[in-house]
Amino acid sequence: MEHVLVKNLSNFIGKEVTLNGWVANFRSSGKIAFWQIRDGSGFIQAILNTNELSKEQWKEAQKVTLETSVKLIGKVAKHPKKDEYELQVSDFKYYQIAEEYPIGKKEHGVDFLMDNRHLWLRSLRQWSIQRVRDTLIQANYQYMRDNNFLKIDSPILTPNACEGTTELFEIDYFDNKAYLSQSGQLYLESAIFAHNRVYDFGPVFRAEKSKTRRHLTEFWMMDAEMAFSDLNENMKVQEELIRFMVKKVLENNRADLEILERDIKPLENITKPFYKITHQEAVKKLQKLGSDIKDGDDLGADDETLLTKEYDNPIFVTNYPAKIKAFYMKRNIKDDSLAECSDLLAPEGYGEIIGGSQREDDYDILLQRIKEHKLPLEEFNWYLDLRKYGSVPHGGFGFGLERIVAWVCGVTHVRETIPYPRTINRLRP
Ligand code: 4AD
Ligand code: MG
Repeated sequence: MEHVLVKNLSNFIGKEVTLNGWVANFRSSGKIAFWQIRDGSGFIQAILNTNELSKEQWKEAQKVTLETSVKLIGKVAKHPKKDEYELQVSDFKYYQIAEEYPIGKKEHGVDFLMDNRHLWLRSLRQWSIQRVRDTLIQANYQYMRDNNFLKIDSPILTPNACEGTTELFEIDYFDNKAYLSQSGQLYLESAIFAHNRVYDFGPVFRAEKSKTRRHLTEFWMMDAEMAFSDLNENMKVQEELIRFMVKKVLENNRADLEILERDIKPLENITKPFYKITHQEAVKKLQKLGSDIKDGDDLGADDETLLTKEYDNPIFVTNYPAKIKAFYMKRNIKDDSLAECSDLLAPEGYGEIIGGSQREDDYDILLQRIKEHKLPLEEFNWYLDLRKYGSVPHGGFGFGLERIVAWVCGVTHVRETIPYPRTINRLRP
């Protein structure tokens, strides 16, 4: 007898199958019981009927509890009205009868759910979010491979800071100090000289003290880096990549987006060109919208929300003042006070999902920047070397996966987009 997954049941109508899963819900009348079974691939209603089962089996069936694990044998039938399938159970076996499950039908607070994250992951909404996350990851890999990017894994233990020294996690490294990586960018820059187009994907760490709906202390970043590129090409790749990833979710995760009650209209706009405004224009617009942002200020979290609510598709904000951006950014050729950079903001109030820039490729200027930023020169000599041996114009970008998942799923807080969120006040479970 075939052992099948719920998602494949349409191929087995009228046939007897074996199915493994968990009881996600159950109800019973005198002679018939309905178990909602979850097997990881989907949900199905199993029907246990006194006509089909022996007295002993029926008695055994009364022991069922939420989250009990079962093996079911039965015949597959199509629901008379809906596009769903049912299993007419002829026999079953418990793997384990679950104890009283702490996550019930009543509303729970976020802290309780987060304390039970190891169980909460089974819930319908959390299940759908992780499925969308998986599609986004797979689509990312596919796009990168199709566009000649080679995956290069950057180290996590580093002696230097990529994104400034204020948010570093410091650890003892034998008799030295080391830091958890904030971004693999600097290492990827070295790899373009061997492979031209490269990317990495992995967890990065920031000792973020901010408690916002956008910040985690551990999150997954994809850094990409391209030799012989300029900012326009950089933005073009970002736009194509995000479009490809969102399209894959629209193709593969309709049911999940429905479970999440995500309005997909804004996601369908993704085929249109992204918006492009300069930092200066963004500030003007924000001031009109009532923000107290001043010319030359960085966009705060509230500003990003305010600004992106005005848009129905992602927005590139270009040429931020150099003084609020990282040391490695090249300056704009017409205005040296501006960085040759872009942030990609997701619409509908979501805000920054990608940070990217042209990199300073001149040895002397880069050396001067490292000094200006008071970075320890001895840890950056290898990075400066890259400007000595065949330096080329180059640039790249990095996205935060959780921010993209949050936007695509229409989830307000990034804590639901990663299996085990790490924030200033959460390290457990
Ligand atoms: O803008 P960031 O700081 O850029 C970099 O780290 C560059 N080195 C990337 C590169 O050019 N290779 O971070 C990149 C992205 C942000 O746009 C945001 O999506 C995400 O990482 N991010 C965070 N996500 C969750 N929690 C945090 N604390 C985040 N900080 C940044
Ligand atoms: Mg940024």
